Amino acid sequence: MNTAGGVGVGAGLRTVVLISGGGTNLQAIINQVGSGELHINLQAVVSDRPEILGLERAAKANIPTRIVDYSKFDRRADAEQALSATLHRLQPELLILAGFMRILPASLVSEYYGRMLNIHPSLLPKFRGLDTYRRAIQAKETWHGSTVHYVTPELDAGPSIIQYKVRIYPDETELSLSTRVQQGEYIIYPRAIGWIADRRLQLKHGEVWLDGLPLAEPVVINES
Ligand code: GRF
Repeated sequence: MNTAGGVGVGAGLRTVVLISGGGTNLQAIINQVGSGELHINLQAVVSDRPEILGLERAAKANIPTRIVDYSKFDRRADAEQALSATLHRLQPELLILAGFMRILPASLVSEYYGRMLNIHPSLLPKFRGLDTYRRAIQAKETWHGSTVHYVTPELDAGPSIIQYKVRIYPDETELSLSTRVQQGEYIIYPRAIGWIADRRLQLKHGEVWLDGLPLAEPVVINES
């Protein structure tokens, strides 16, 4: 932890986290940076709306925040332009989407190809898009979970890196399932980011490489 008592300044990969809400994944990342387990420089947290808990979490950890309030723009393209400009000023080496509820323009996605991660609450390629917990329960799936993946222009379709897998029990509710899956997100997201920070993980020609070998399947962590 730095002398200011936060984690916002430090050595390591310049990393920007994009959020839209509560920021519990952001908090898990902050905690691991603070404890010295994750070696990144949390340069800034960028939000698409003001007054969200995630921004408070960042401020408390002394991480600079930026708000690109999409609701203040008449045209989505103008908001996207403002977001791009904000990111260009920050010059991050790694972009982390942590509950960022906007689809990014293709130009931004290609600019950060291989340097942008997302976490999606399903065992991709199953259940892309929204309401994944409800859909998984309704489909009578046996397993559900969450996936960290590289971001590519197609929504929730980029190459998967690591998954957290939980069983769906017969009496499962959306709340019980999401609570268990989110506990796993706080394990797998910092882990994937750590692999990038330690130069162990790369995206090469559409393939995920970990420790010098291509991954045929994402790494799977089972709920214990
Ligand atoms: C996470 O559960 C993630 O799977 C999804 O959005 C949620 C964000 O939650 N992409 P939080 O803001 O990190 O609490």
